[in-house]
Amino acid sequence: MNDFAERLISWQRKHGRHDLPWQGGHDPYRIWLSEIMLQQTQVDTVIPYYTRFLARFPDVASLAAAPVEEVMALWSGLGYYARARNLHRAAQAIVAGHGGEFPRSAAEIAGLPGIGRSTAAAIAAFAYGERAAILDGNVKRVLCRIFGVEGFPGDKAVENRLWALAESLLPAREVGRYIQAQMDLGATLCTRGKPACERCPFAGDCIARRGNRVGELPTPRPKKTVPRRSARYAVVLHREAVMLERRPPAGIWGGLLSLPEIPAEVPAELAGTSAWARSHFGFDAVEARALGALTHTFTHFVLEMQPVLLRLRTDTRPRARDGDALAWVPLSALDEAALPAPVRRILDALAAPDLFTG
Ligand code: ADE
Repeated sequence: MNDFAERLISWQRKHGRHDLPWQGGHDPYRIWLSEIMLQQTQVDTVIPYYTRFLARFPDVASLAAAPVEEVMALWSGLGYYARARNLHRAAQAIVAGHGGEFPRSAAEIAGLPGIGRSTAAAIAAFAYGERAAILDGNVKRVLCRIFGVEGFPGDKAVENRLWALAESLLPAREVGRYIQAQMDLGATLCTRGKPACERCPFAGDCIARRGNRVGELPTPRPKKTVPRRSARYAVVLHREAVMLERRPPAGIWGGLLSLPEIPAEVPAELAGTSAWARSHFGFDAVEARALGALTHTFTHFVLEMQPVLLRLRTDTRPRARDGDALAWVPLSALDEAALPAPVRRILDALAAPDLFTG
């Protein structure tokens, strides 16, 4: 596509945003302020803050001279307060290091606190018409879709490809309108969810759309692959008590009370049957059935827990085995017991009163 910029600019003329309070002028201070406010915040939210801020601090000098508390107060409610602190610091840097003159190139602007490469380029393009490419989240999404760029855009290698693409697309003239057009397309049509492809000037060329992959591009952040482990747990009930096992001090759930784990060697057909209860605890179960599995995510792995209910049939409570590690805990004492969250979930799910009779 060799007329990307031209078509985007024409689209902006007709369908872009033209009446935002920071548009129409070339004062770098006002443009800078708007770009910082717009970094994490929607246009509608920004407008009243922008107006109030400018009324109190109309230029770099007034902002630099203000106490930081007053700057923060005018920012309060906008969020991401580091933006305001950096704004204030940058104003002081402009006064101290640039003779109070806003720097005149994207490269110099990018040297100020709180201004990254893309924001610096936007300010330089809007204020001075500098041919500098932007690459914010919206532009990344637009480029990934239209040009079919694969890979998570947060990856350095993918990001470098996107910067190169963004640079190669820059028009010779009307850079400011072109930059605004990119922002407008990303914010109004080529949105993250439910993009309005039918109104998009690039619908016929867009690689994502042609391949029916608009929902897949940009490539999402790769999910960290964490190992999965699955284990079966015996929920042994006898009258109004459950058999719990104190975990060794080190390792997961160290020192907490957990459900006894059914050893991995016990075959699936046997685990959780009355026959297994007899062989393991010496008593038949009047009820033996699998309960719903649940997963619990640790930092380094996901544990799938498969609980098996075994209600023992006997008038005499079987002695807990395995030395002191196993203990019968009255159900009435579970609230105070030191249980890992997923074990508590399993036991809570069992709390139907009829389960604990007999
Ligand atoms: N988001 C970031 N910069 C913007 C701008 N100049 N206009 C509208 N939305 C924006």
